[in-house]
Amino acid sequence: MDKKVTSSLNEQINKEFFSAYLYLSFANWCEDQGLDGFANWYQVQAQEERDHAMMIVGYLQNNDEHVEYEAIKKPASSWDSALDVLKAGLAHEKYITASINNIYATALEAKDFRTTQFLDWFIKEQNEEETSAGMLIKKAEMIGKEGNGLYMLNQELASRVYTPPTVAE
Ligand code: FEO
Repeated sequence: MDKKVTSSLNEQINKEFFSAYLYLSFANWCEDQGLDGFANWYQVQAQEERDHAMMIVGYLQNNDEHVEYEAIKKPASSWDSALDVLKAGLAHEKYITASINNIYATALEAKDFRTTQFLDWFIKEQNEEETSAGMLIKKAEMIGKEGNGLYMLNQELASRVYTPPTVAE
């Protein structure tokens, strides 16, 4: 495989693990505020991020490429409100989308169509992640910071359950 493609995929593994770490940090903050539904939402999200990392690990290994785990940086740990957490989540997903797009462009340039095909799943996933993060922000803005509305959104988020990704490699 093209060296630029493999090194950017290795970097993406780290970014996906960092995403998991960041979402676990969101979950901790939410738990501290009594927002157990929000905490559940982000714990599930963290599991999905680990899946994303491991999908890339599997892809590199299936192509006989070396996987290198780098240090995962410390995530932020406090926010001013649940809305701020949601906004930080969307901003992070946009950063991840840009990163996936860059790898895609690198793979295209290298005529590595196996990798672009592999990344198609991630392109679609990023669209879904940005959509759901954006929808949560709209709901949170609709209800304001306090009271019954926040409680109800918390209950809604408590119902999210983890399902492993379905992807054909
Ligand atoms: Fe793995 Fe939320 O992107």
